[in-house]
Amino acid sequence: MKNIVILISGRGSNMEAIVRARAAQQWPARIAAVISNKPDAAGLSFAQAHGIPTAVVDHKAYASREAFDAALQDTIDGYQPDLVVLAGFMRILTCGFVEHYAGRMLNIHPSLLPLFPGLHTHRQALAAGVSEHGATVHFVTAELDHGPSVLQARIPVLPGDTEESLATRLLAEEHVIYPQAVRLFVEDRISIANGEVRIAETTSI
Ligand code: GAR
Repeated sequence: MKNIVILISGRGSNMEAIVRARAAQQWPARIAAVISNKPDAAGLSFAQAHGIPTAVVDHKAYASREAFDAALQDTIDGYQPDLVVLAGFMRILTCGFVEHYAGRMLNIHPSLLPLFPGLHTHRQALAAGVSEHGATVHFVTAELDHGPSVLQARIPVLPGDTEESLATRLLAEEHVIYPQAVRLFVEDRISIANGEVRIAETTSI
């Protein structure tokens, strides 16, 4: 049974999708905790209502990024995680923190990485005039929004699309691929070789 710790900063709809998929599909995993850097993150209520332990490590209470990351790491490690899932966790992480969870920390980013790292990805996609947009689940490495890609979802950019319409359509796809990627991890079906992810086929139906 693997322990999953999910980090959020706000709405937490990807966290919710993972919690629901775990329960519906009976993964060999438990959601050990949901942790937020914001005391008012809406997703905390969902977690609490589902009996999941929650914690807040408020970044505003720490003088430096290093001090915040050290406190966050202490809190996370109290739940003995096999996997840390960043689900709309909007903090830049220090190298030491990322290194500590190397190979066991996933993130979802709303673009087809390596395109459009950083913020405002839907705006970036529209400005670039791409015909296709998407989201990427990837392992977290020291470079922001890089790291081996596990799964991507693709959507067409339609005439008249706005940042909001793209975000809404893409979020529905995020809710599909993030639970899939987490499930692959907890079923030990993901390996990384030479910086590339390999996914083992399953023989069971
Ligand atoms: C999601 O769209 C996620 O891809 C994005 O924030 C949103 C969080 O929504 N993450 C990033 O931009 C990370 N760079 P949620 O809180 O409802 O899951």
